[in-house]
Amino acid sequence: MTNVTVTTLKAHKAAGEKFAVITAYDATFAGLVEDAGIEVILVGDSLGMVLQGHDSTLPTTIEEMIYHTRCVSRGCKKPLVIGDLPFASYNTREETMTNAAALMRAGANMVKLEGGEWLTQSITAMVERGIPVCAHLGLTPQSVNSLGGFKVQGRESAQATSILDDAKRVEAAGASMLVLECIPSALAASITAELSIPVVGIGAGADTDAQVLVLHDMLGLSSRLPKFVRNFMTDNPDVQSALKAYNTAVKSGEFPTIEHSFS
Ligand code: KIV
Repeated sequence: MTNVTVTTLKAHKAAGEKFAVITAYDATFAGLVEDAGIEVILVGDSLGMVLQGHDSTLPTTIEEMIYHTRCVSRGCKKPLVIGDLPFASYNTREETMTNAAALMRAGANMVKLEGGEWLTQSITAMVERGIPVCAHLGLTPQSVNSLGGFKVQGRESAQATSILDDAKRVEAAGASMLVLECIPSALAASITAELSIPVVGIGAGADTDAQVLVLHDMLGLSSRLPKFVRNFMTDNPDVQSALKAYNTAVKSGEFPTIEHSFS
């Protein structure tokens, strides 16, 4: 695998070739993910739950995200590394720029943040200053308290339309990638077809351009596995084989199946 860039990922979408994304939070796992041939590492604020033991991602701070982004970027060379802006670290355009720049200095190649229309000016500002952006729609875990829990989004038609509209807005604002979390497969498929930027799904069915899973979930280490997760350790003898199996299953379209998806 050569160094993965925004251009590489766009080319994968244009060619109809699926790519794999996974979270990692330290140098050791970043190296294993790279060796497995996975294109993108997300240093997700899910670390608040799987590393720090919180019930949600809300307590995670920008300083912690910077620290883990540094660890990951030291552990790999080729994957594109996405740093995640945590809860309440991008309230204003100025705050967004400062914190996004700190993640880029820590080694990120792209910055992710959760939300749609209200973020468009911040997205454009980041892109104009050389920071590629990944947006995140559907179940946005930082809004778990407003959403009333970790629930599938976009089942009612008004909500589905609003997610589709937001997807078009973040693309128009300059986002280079979009994560769709826990939405019906048919909605994810139509958003993927409408956008020219790569769309990465988690609990969003089989028709997105790429898939992402939380590392600890796909290694079967989490106490409760969500419906959209496959435990790749079940059929593999070690972590390296499980990561390779995940990469292969995503690229071949063998994962996710209907049993990991929502209608
Ligand atoms: O924080 C994270 O790991 C994420 C993924 C679940 C998409 O946002």
